[in-house]
Parts: sequence; structure tokens; C-alpha cells
Amino acid sequence: MVLESVARIVKVQLPAYLKRLPVPESITGFARLTVRPFLPKKKQQKDSLINLKIQKENPKVVNEINIEDLCLTKAAYCRCWRSKTFPACDGSHNKHNELTGDNVGPLILKKKEV
Ligand code: FES
Repeated sequence: MVLESVARIVKVQLPAYLKRLPVPESITGFARLTVRPFLPKKKQQKDSLINLKIQKENPKVVNEINIEDLCLTKAAYCRCWRSKTFPACDGSHNKHNELTGDNVGPLILKKKEV
């Protein structure tokens, strides 16, 4: 019984597995291989995160501000996700832009003065 299982693995399952492997047939084929499939999936996802630390316990960060509640004539809201006073901008985007070469800035809401 055990030998039958081993024989099946060696004669049937292993060849089928090896047949599916993407083994290049030339040197240029090896050059085109990437290591991406072997990188841990979490690492790939973390590289693409925008929000690194704000309300990570929530599945989606949503902020709602009623226009009627805007008491100042001008309010700046963070779009870089680096503000320590999120959703208000605290100027952290300047440091982020310096470090990364990015060009993000706040959303500024202005009240028309009548
Ligand atoms: Fe994020 Fe200013 S701190 S846009």
C-alpha cells in the first residue's frame, strides 16, 4: 500500500508537477526570469500602501466634515496620510516631499467672503 503511493507520486504526480514548472529553454529565457513570484505576498502589498499608520484598525478610513461646521474662512485637509492631526494637514507633507521627491499637498477649502 505504501509502495503503491510512493510509486504513484514518483511516476505520475512528480512528472506532472515538473511539466508545469516554467523552466527556460535558453540563456535569454533565464535572463527574463524574475524573482517576483518568490517574494512574500505581504511584502509586495506593503510596498503599495499609502496609509502607513492612520486608523489601521478600520477597514476603510472615511472622514466627513459638514460645510456648515467650517467656522474658519480656510481649512487644509491632509492628502499625504502623514499628518499627526489627520484629517487636518499639519505640514508633514513637506517632509515627505523632501524625503521622497513626491509632490503631494493638502486639500484647501476656502469660504468666499461676502
Ligand atoms: Fe498631509 Fe499636509 S500633512 S497634506
